[in-house]
Amino acid sequence: MSSMSATAIASPNIAFIKYWGNRDNQLRLPLNGSISMNLDGLFTQTTVTFDPAFEMDTLTLNDQVADQQATSRVTHFLDLVRKLANTTLRANVISKNNFPTGVGIASSASAFAALSLAATAAIGLELSETELSRLARRGSGSACRSVPGGYVEWLAGQSDDDSYAVSIASPDHWALVDCIVIVQVEHKQIGSSQGHLLANTSPLQYARVEDAPRRIRLCKEAILHRDFETFATITELDSTLMHAVMMTSDPPLFYWSPATLEIMTNVTRWRKEKALPVCYTVDAGPNVHVICEEPVSETIREQLLQLPGVLQVLSAKPAGPARLCTTLDNHSLRKL
Ligand code: PMV
Repeated sequence: MSSMSATAIASPNIAFIKYWGNRDNQLRLPLNGSISMNLDGLFTQTTVTFDPAFEMDTLTLNDQVADQQATSRVTHFLDLVRKLANTTLRANVISKNNFPTGVGIASSASAFAALSLAATAAIGLELSETELSRLARRGSGSACRSVPGGYVEWLAGQSDDDSYAVSIASPDHWALVDCIVIVQVEHKQIGSSQGHLLANTSPLQYARVEDAPRRIRLCKEAILHRDFETFATITELDSTLMHAVMMTSDPPLFYWSPATLEIMTNVTRWRKEKALPVCYTVDAGPNVHVICEEPVSETIREQLLQLPGVLQVLSAKPAGPARLCTTLDNHSLRKL
């Protein structure tokens, strides 16, 4: 048997209604549903090659041989793919991001979405979008949202079978721009996988989760009706609720820096005082995702660059789904 290879591309996503905390940590079943937008122009490209001659899985990340921790996370994930395909073949994985890693742009989301697609295609499985999203979820929860395109909802579900993401609107439905404001480029101290384990230690988590269906409904309706004011209010509330849980967990997690708060307060002021369609959301890091409507994005970018502590502003429009680039061998894809 010769080697079997495939390459896939996926974009990261920014959540407007956040995922923080699992009902089942092993299966990565979330405590609440979430809503996000895929980020165009930013991507992970991953090539997976299975070969009978390989004795173990190997991983190259951004042109460097990955450490033991990252490699075993990938091996653990590939074990799920091997189980689906009923094979013991080992793989070589080469993955590259075209954006900085570990700065609050969810690289694990695009990484596991691209890996799911490349690995299953390479081994000869043809998964539906739902099946792929479920699989990506096992690598990193938010990765399930990088499988479908545009504006996406992760349906929390009750079990492994019904916890996956679906597209709620195409990328061209609403011309929003995520101005990603970089205030720090060092790796974050506590990654989200560890953070999820702490969520339930906060006395505020129960209230956040309990109210999540209401926020999901409001956010979804706001997206469908392109109602920026409602969208902004609910997106900012959801972000701050997640950070309130983080700050009150045991041990507490403080992701904001002074620059983060400076950006947040200015963005809200621009919306309230200048009537600009702009709002913020912050993930598990100090950088701020400033979401605005496309016609004002250049003005917002310029204003952001004037603020203290701002190192760089990246801009991303809504992106499409994870997609396959090439399948180097010509085996026929078979159904699950
Ligand atoms: O998928 P994870 O385990 O990296 O968790 C993502 C957590 C947040 O980015 C903070 C929120 C979200 O919904 O993306």
